[in-house]
Amino acid sequence: MSTSHQQIAILDFGSQYTHLIARRFRQLGVLAKLYPTDYDVSQIPNLIGIVLSGSPGSVSDDQYPFDPKIFSAGVPVLGLCYGHQLMGNYFGGKVEKSNAREFGKANLQVGVSPLFIGLDNLETVWMSHGDSVTDLPAGFKTIGSTNECPIAAMQNEAKKYYSLQFHPEVTHTLHGMRILENFAVQICGAKKDWQLLDWENSMLEKIKEFSAGKKVFLLVSGGVDSTVCFALLEKALGPNRVYGLHVDTGLMRQDEAAQVKASLNQAGFKNLHIQDSTELFIGKLTGVSEPEQKRQIIGDLFLEIKDQVALELGLNPAEWLLAQGTIYPDTIETGGTKNADKIKTHHNQVDKIQDLIKQGQIIEPLRDLYKDEVRSLGKLLGLSDELVWRQPFPGPGLGIRLLCNDELIGQNGLLELNQKLAEVFETIKVTAKLAESAKITALPLKSVGVQGDSRTYAHPAVIELDGFPWEKIEKFSPQITNAVRGVNRVLLRVDNEDLNLNDGELMNATITTGRLNLLREIDAIVQAEIATAGLAKDIWQFPVVLVPFGVDGQESIVLRPVASLEAMTASFFPLPEQVLNSIVEKIRLFKEISFIFYDVTNKPPGTIEWE
Ligand code: XMP
Repeated sequence: MSTSHQQIAILDFGSQYTHLIARRFRQLGVLAKLYPTDYDVSQIPNLIGIVLSGSPGSVSDDQYPFDPKIFSAGVPVLGLCYGHQLMGNYFGGKVEKSNAREFGKANLQVGVSPLFIGLDNLETVWMSHGDSVTDLPAGFKTIGSTNECPIAAMQNEAKKYYSLQFHPEVTHTLHGMRILENFAVQICGAKKDWQLLDWENSMLEKIKEFSAGKKVFLLVSGGVDSTVCFALLEKALGPNRVYGLHVDTGLMRQDEAAQVKASLNQAGFKNLHIQDSTELFIGKLTGVSEPEQKRQIIGDLFLEIKDQVALELGLNPAEWLLAQGTIYPDTIETGGTKNADKIKTHHNQVDKIQDLIKQGQIIEPLRDLYKDEVRSLGKLLGLSDELVWRQPFPGPGLGIRLLCNDELIGQNGLLELNQKLAEVFETIKVTAKLAESAKITALPLKSVGVQGDSRTYAHPAVIELDGFPWEKIEKFSPQITNAVRGVNRVLLRVDNEDLNLNDGELMNATITTGRLNLLREIDAIVQAEIATAGLAKDIWQFPVVLVPFGVDGQESIVLRPVASLEAMTASFFPLPEQVLNSIVEKIRLFKEISFIFYDVTNKPPGTIEWE
């Protein structure tokens, strides 16, 4: 049981990265748990260290209560970002709003500290702050600085208090993991006595307790999360107490429902049922174009179908719980933590589900895990590589890759935006040494993005140039979205057609069987090409999007391969040229398609999916 393990307590002041801190310690083999900011840490068994997280708040607002006893608990304390400022403030230093706010990469001059053992003299770190510690508190000394932030790291070695203005928990801080390991092992004396198997064992106990006397109804998509959840529930409760329902929404990939059924049967799941609800989904989505509305409808329909199936089976609602394979990124993006903005509603987190969660009617055992942890757990549970390594596919399926539209924006509506884009692109052309003929044009359609932790719904800008100078594109793509408000994605035109982009028109479009079938067919071609090229594991996910923009009533295709570790951030994936050419050639054979675009946007500012 987890209580016998050493533990690091993380006091959660509300940063979007707080969960990542816990995850990093888990990766090191150290149990770490989140606690409210005023928690009485003396109650925590086997406590070896305390971390104070970052926060969207400011110490000057005094908005988070905390118990000063954390500093006399007899264990080392590490403050991160807000936690750094809290320590600066509490011990009598000075914290001020900085003139130069810092977001993103910074170079840290590294001083001498047990926290920094093994680091270089200069390290790349990730900053995201408005306030800074400007005067050291008594007993502390500076152990790291950046240009903008002279006290970027400090320590009181006698007391074992350490604090950092930057975030060692994000992967952009190159040796952040080493810093956290130094804290855990060198400073707190962690024995690395925790492993995923311990998590599994304690979760099996929790599932038994939570579901005592009840059975669970699980919606199984066939993706890795719900499959692992299925296996975990069966292990905890036995197959007779778990009812798996796979709903064929008609928004699936080619042959998906049949494949899901075959692979889950092969994996030995006993109690799996398939429900064909294609007509219901298409019917309810006809005429709907707004992405969040589509997501709501799809999420609600899953619940409706579950209720209907339960009714048909004569299940007594008092005896059944609903289980879901929700993982951590699903909840944060739906605005599921106190301070997070809603980027998009994941189908398993619609309002009705949130109500059921509050009523204790839902069990989500994977809620704190990230995708790669879920995969490792799947392997521990004996699932095959094929099931565990499936690429993520969003619950709403192709429904959110089929862009719809009901407002007609002509190119005239984009004059100002295009002017601004052209100005910015002129400078880029010079610095990136692009050919004079390279062009940039905003498309009249819109997609969802995430910028500064908030949702955006804005236009993509298309670049037309020769070839694929990926290194240059990596540089200038963010420059465009940073400089031009109203643009949240950058696309590269890759179709090699003679068509003029300015002749393209935005059309009204909704979800229809015809459009779905077209997208399904093209998606299947792309998937097959990626598999043949042996890229399926390198590419985290490869949405193919159909957009109602083209010449003479035709539409266009967007290719969106991404690389990611946790789906919280992602970079566009540069395909090898011959793979891309082969995909393009095959898509060009479709008479319904005018343009083919390649999405070269990272997340942020674009999300992985378009809606
Ligand atoms: P975005 O597009 O927000 O996606 O960068 C992040 C990850 O979440 C997946 N996704 C979903 N998964 N239900 C899910 O189970 C959903 O409604 C949903 N929406 C997005 C997306 O595919 C990516 O892996």
